[in-house]
Amino acid sequence: MKRLALITLGVAALASFNVSAQSQAPRHAPTFAKDVASIMFNKCATCHRPGEVAPMSLMSYEDARPWAKAIRSKVVSREMPPWGADMSQTLPMRNDISLTQQEIDTIAAWVDGGVARGNSADMPPAPNFKTGWTAGTEPDLVLEMPVEFEIPAEGELGVQMFYSKVPWDEDRFAEIVELKPSNRAVLHHAGIYFVDIPEGARLENGRIIGPDGKVIGDRGSRGLPSTDSGLPGSSKLLSWVPGRGLDHHRADIGKRIPGGKYINWQLHYNPTGKPEKDRTKLGIWFNKVPVTHEVLIRQAGDPLATTRGGLSIYRAEGREVEYKADPGSTRRSRTTPNIPAYAEHWRLTGITPVTEDITLYAMSPHMHLRGKSLKWVIVYPDGREQTILNVPKFDFNWQFNYELKEPLKIPAGSKILGLGVYDNSVRNKWNPAPHLEVYWSEQSWDEMYQPFTEYSVDSQDLTVLKPVTQQQRR
Ligand code: HEC
Repeated sequence: MKRLALITLGVAALASFNVSAQSQAPRHAPTFAKDVASIMFNKCATCHRPGEVAPMSLMSYEDARPWAKAIRSKVVSREMPPWGADMSQTLPMRNDISLTQQEIDTIAAWVDGGVARGNSADMPPAPNFKTGWTAGTEPDLVLEMPVEFEIPAEGELGVQMFYSKVPWDEDRFAEIVELKPSNRAVLHHAGIYFVDIPEGARLENGRIIGPDGKVIGDRGSRGLPSTDSGLPGSSKLLSWVPGRGLDHHRADIGKRIPGGKYINWQLHYNPTGKPEKDRTKLGIWFNKVPVTHEVLIRQAGDPLATTRGGLSIYRAEGREVEYKADPGSTRRSRTTPNIPAYAEHWRLTGITPVTEDITLYAMSPHMHLRGKSLKWVIVYPDGREQTILNVPKFDFNWQFNYELKEPLKIPAGSKILGLGVYDNSVRNKWNPAPHLEVYWSEQSWDEMYQPFTEYSVDSQDLTVLKPVTQQQRR
């Protein structure tokens, strides 16, 4: 299976640059119960628990004990937990799972000091993942892919497009959304969008049948870029890639789930060598207090506009590239030049002019195998520049959503820059074909530039515009 193979490769490659750290051992040897368990529960257990992405559970002393040496080496080298941001050039993030130097020293001293268990009385309660949702509680509502998809043992599958109707007529707002595959071994990545379907079209087994009886909204047949259903009114809800699949907004800031629209489930599966099945679920937790603002997601470079249309501005290797964009579309313009063969440090910067006061909440980098680094910089009206997120070594295997601890106010007249760098040289160990020019598309051997940025527009006040309906439960 491709994804695991990539992850394994990553370990082999990373192991060659172990940073040696002198651990400052505390005076007493730390014990698991007193010193280590809380670190494992807070910073490791989201992935290291039964049924999750990591190979072993670290939920108890018995689980962790046999792995002590490996744990020491992975945390000292900072390979674990995976976290791409350079925090010296990044604002504090509320979902930061990286370890402090003191936590690293504690783990090292625990291993060096004999891997003591300690007193049961000191053991903190283990986190509760019983619901199976990373969010930790049962969603208010679970929506399922309209059909169970059967993944063949072999071959290359295009992105599968399924549709189901949003089961309410008025817009509602979600504080948390989480996507959960029923079979995570086969899911490579996924995205959930909302779309409109044409008059006279109908749903049949999760596909849309147009008025003329032909299947529509299935890219394969139309040669469209794969994140593009070709249907109007498209907007994104969330992405699932390794390291992410849970979007947690703020108590009074929600993601709009538009009534009357259709959910477009886009799933890219990788065959594993034997026939598999999946039926991915979407968990929704509605806001519990009235929502004042809605979260919008754009990529740096695309217009902020709350309205459709507008110019997108990119700079490729210093040269301006402009095109008319539909903010709902992830389509890269034809005018964006391809990345030349062997280019080692090829730059693409997206520039979003901030046309009204906004509040920024989160950012997530998405690139493919040539992605080298991605950095968000705010240029304020007085010319001051502030780097708010720097991911210096982009890792295709770990694409986090970086959630600001304190939302950031950005005044009108500022600019949001997303500075991307690509490495198409032989020095990039992930590069499948340095001798080829790289095109913009969704296949992992092609490239993407998606510095997703989540924000709300300050002047919006949903409580005034119309009574909020999100409190209505099923
Ligand atoms: C975001 C998910 C995630 C988090 C958080 C995480 N890990 Fe991992 N860990 C993985 C995955 C996936 C692997 C297997 C592939 C790899 O090594 O990249 C792994 C592998 C490991 C290994 C190597 C196992 C082997 O086969 O040799 C160790 C040791 C480890 N993790 C320790 C930790 C510790 C300790 C923490 C917390 C301080 C932690 N991890 C946090 C996902 C995670």
